[in-house]
Amino acid sequence: MILVTGGAGFIGGNFVLDWLAGSNEPVVNLDKLTYAGNLDTLSPLAQDKRHVFVRGDIGDRDLVVKLLATHQPRAVINFAAESHVDRSIHGPGEFIQTNVVGTFNLLDAVHEYWRALSGTARSEFRFLHVSTDEVYGSLAADDLPFRESNPYEPNSPYSASKAASDHLVRAWHHTYGLPVLTTNCSNNYGPYHFPEKLIPLVILNALAGKPLPIYGDGQQIRDWLFVTDHCAAIRRVLADGTPGETYNVGGWNEKANIDVVNIICSILDEIKPRGDGKAYASQITYVQDRPGHDRRYAIDAGKIEQGLGWRPAETFETGIRKTVQWYLDNPQWVENVTSGTYREWVELQYGQ
Ligand code: NAD
Ligand code: DAU
Repeated sequence: MILVTGGAGFIGGNFVLDWLAGSNEPVVNLDKLTYAGNLDTLSPLAQDKRHVFVRGDIGDRDLVVKLLATHQPRAVINFAAESHVDRSIHGPGEFIQTNVVGTFNLLDAVHEYWRALSGTARSEFRFLHVSTDEVYGSLAADDLPFRESNPYEPNSPYSASKAASDHLVRAWHHTYGLPVLTTNCSNNYGPYHFPEKLIPLVILNALAGKPLPIYGDGQQIRDWLFVTDHCAAIRRVLADGTPGETYNVGGWNEKANIDVVNIICSILDEIKPRGDGKAYASQITYVQDRPGHDRRYAIDAGKIEQGLGWRPAETFETGIRKTVQWYLDNPQWVENVTSGTYREWVELQYGQ
């Protein structure tokens, strides 16, 4: 049994689906179901007894203590977080609450549970914390990609809150010996991605004939990784990572935002052309930049590749095609997540 937090979100949902497709080991899935959590993603598991869903907060120490005592997991994988940089700029409080205070409460409960274990249950237990490359800050054009030894220089309320959580996880290992693992991953994309992030937003706005908003000059660079490759990396680290170590995870796929948007447009031009014969790229609209917008992220994934034998299976070209096709094939999922709350966000962020 493993305990996953945030398993109704984008990456956690993909992780739970993948896990149960490849293993019979059951999963307890603790998720608060914020605007970003979506049970539709987990609907293939509705009748599956190997999946136990619990609605709750990682910051609810008593609940976590009870879940650990009941299910006796051999590992906890923490995906739960507020994850959207733009939302952290509008309202940082929730980010501090979940990403910092929540992670503290989770760690505290897990520490109590782990301390009482004995034998192999204790020595083989793992707490895996899923984090981001954003904790390293922004790179200049000619800087080397982030390595695990790079200093933490977070620039947004989101990345600062994730950095704080990484530090707590590190401290619980160093001080109490809790066997922790941390992964710092680059930008994910793929199925079940909530459509306020760049890639799903652009696919869905393009299909709806709406503007494709590019912040600033569109030359900011991100390193993109298909979500199931991230899930595979987490499984590798969980299986063979060294407690106390951190692992950078990335796809060697640095791309400027404008290039990502143009690629999506040209795939749509090919497989779902606009009725009026115009190119989807005609919908591109430059808008005001994100405050404090990091210019470039890039990951050196050498440590996980050489140490644990992980490699991404998808290139950006194969992964983005699968992603565009998935959104075309799943209008009902999109319909269900683009609720009133979603529309309020779009108005706040892009409205005049
Ligand atoms: P997401 O926003 O799609 O999902 C987050 C999930 O956590 C949601 O299901 C939400 O309901 C749940 N949640 C939020 N607060 C909670 C709380 N207090 N208690 C329990 N559940 C709570 O996020 P994501 O994109 O799937 O990211 C998952 C993790 O991976 C995050 O920790 C994020 O920082 C990290 N990460 C994301 C990316 C990316 O590109 N999306 C890249 C690297 C790392
Ligand atoms: O690097 C990992 C991080 O990637 C994760 O830790 C975060 O949880 C995840 O949300 C993501 O953060 P970004 O800020 O990079 O992702 P987002 O999709 O919001 O934006 C990607 C880039 O596109 C970024 O440079 C901002 C830009 N952008 C985004 C939106 C939503 C636009 O130009 N226009 C937009 O409308």
